[in-house]
Amino acid sequence: METTRHFQVAFLGGGPGGYVGALRAAELGLSVVLIESGQVGGTCLNRGCIPTKSLLRSADLWREIQKTEEFGISVEHVSFDFSRVMARKDQVVNTLVNGIAQLLKSAKVTVIEGFGEFKNANQIEIRTSKGVETITADDIVLATGSVPARIPIPGVDLPGVISSDQVLQETILPKNLVVIGGGVIGLEFATMYQTFGVKVTVVEMLPTLLPNVDEEIVRRLTLLLKRTGMDIITGASVKEIRQGEKLVVQVEHGHEIKEISTERVLIATGRKPNLQGIDIEGLGLRTERRALVVNDQMQTNLPHVYAIGDAVGGIMLAHVASKEGIVAAEHIAGHQVKMNYKAIPSAIFTHPEIATVGITEQELKLKGLKYKVSKFPFSANGKAMAAGDTVGLVKIIADEQGIIMGATIMGPQASSLIQELTIAVEKGLTGEDLANIVHAHPTLTETIMEAAHGLSAKPLHRA
Ligand code: NAI
Repeated sequence: METTRHFQVAFLGGGPGGYVGALRAAELGLSVVLIESGQVGGTCLNRGCIPTKSLLRSADLWREIQKTEEFGISVEHVSFDFSRVMARKDQVVNTLVNGIAQLLKSAKVTVIEGFGEFKNANQIEIRTSKGVETITADDIVLATGSVPARIPIPGVDLPGVISSDQVLQETILPKNLVVIGGGVIGLEFATMYQTFGVKVTVVEMLPTLLPNVDEEIVRRLTLLLKRTGMDIITGASVKEIRQGEKLVVQVEHGHEIKEISTERVLIATGRKPNLQGIDIEGLGLRTERRALVVNDQMQTNLPHVYAIGDAVGGIMLAHVASKEGIVAAEHIAGHQVKMNYKAIPSAIFTHPEIATVGITEQELKLKGLKYKVSKFPFSANGKAMAAGDTVGLVKIIADEQGIIMGATIMGPQASSLIQELTIAVEKGLTGEDLANIVHAHPTLTETIMEAAHGLSAKPLHRA
């Protein structure tokens, strides 16, 4: 097959950056091609956000079943089948992947399945199952995502040492699991496995888990995770993994050398931009720390070449990639737009959930800036009490004028609740602004209203 089709814009990569950008570009009337070597939806849908949340939902249900007596309900003979938990996850993923394929079709985006190589400006060569196809485009958006980062220690290639991609293919639960990396991915899998009865040990190199999250909240989460029986070793470096009867993970912790025997090791030590298929040097594309360098309009140093999502490093989150895709599409269509990173919410699906937006208390302390803090616990909220889910708090940080600069929530529905505070940070609202808005009763959102009230006065429902 030797054909060359021309499009106004080509997206290389169909993850939440590429496919959302493609939809927006098509909506703006451009002719669009999307090139994807795997399934549309990228890491988020196929190997990240969605499969993990499906698994965590099964884990939540299992945890809740253990405490039905508290609600006056007796349940007998309960059990779970991990292979069916995994199969349900696949079903959720497939439904969403098909949905996105349908959306792209209705939007008249041409999707080419195959591995695209970007070697010449304005031209991409695609290896498809039917042969090589070349396309040209006026503008090209690189949306190639990221891949799990490897760590240079002996034993990482042993069977049973797996990445966050491979762990999603497992169908049998191991008896024990060592998670290397106490970041977002590590803790979400640790939570899921621990809930299903696996003995989990988390080994984190830095002095605390989740290094970018509010320190006070991380301390509380660490205690809660330990209470579930999870072993957490921070400030520790993994020296090697070797094959004994089981796998043996050797960890240096202070002056001590520990050896942990385990069936599985999950490496969750971060992700790195995936620039495969892009001839960085030949094209003269600028990179910094292995990521493509872009401006506020998501343009690289080459005219008509844009880059978005994990490929540009920075905040590697699906919703950031999607917004960057929209900005690139709109800029290509001639709109005056600019990417704005002022209020980016993020959520960590541990139990309890954690969600954050804006600046943290430790960052303000480091900068030597003055600030106000207000906290409100879920234990003083009627809805949380009725639901039997009272662990955690809302913590809001404001400047001296009361303008909300950041917030962290740990507790039920934190991932959804954070959106109200995201609006506050984005729009520069004060605590008083939020407290003056009527919040529905009885809802978890009242905790935000109370914490907001506490920035200028005392929360009403707090002694
Ligand atoms: P991460 O950067 O969040 O955490 C990696 C952790 O591994 C860090 O705490 C780091 O100090 C530690 N580490 C690095 N090398 C180590 C070593 N040799 N030994 C022990 N610890 C070591 O990266 P993670 O969790 O892999 O996630 C990758 C990306 O995916 C992040 O940008 C994250 O935001 C995103 N993501 C977001 C999710 C969400 O929003 N819910 C879910 C999953 C991933």
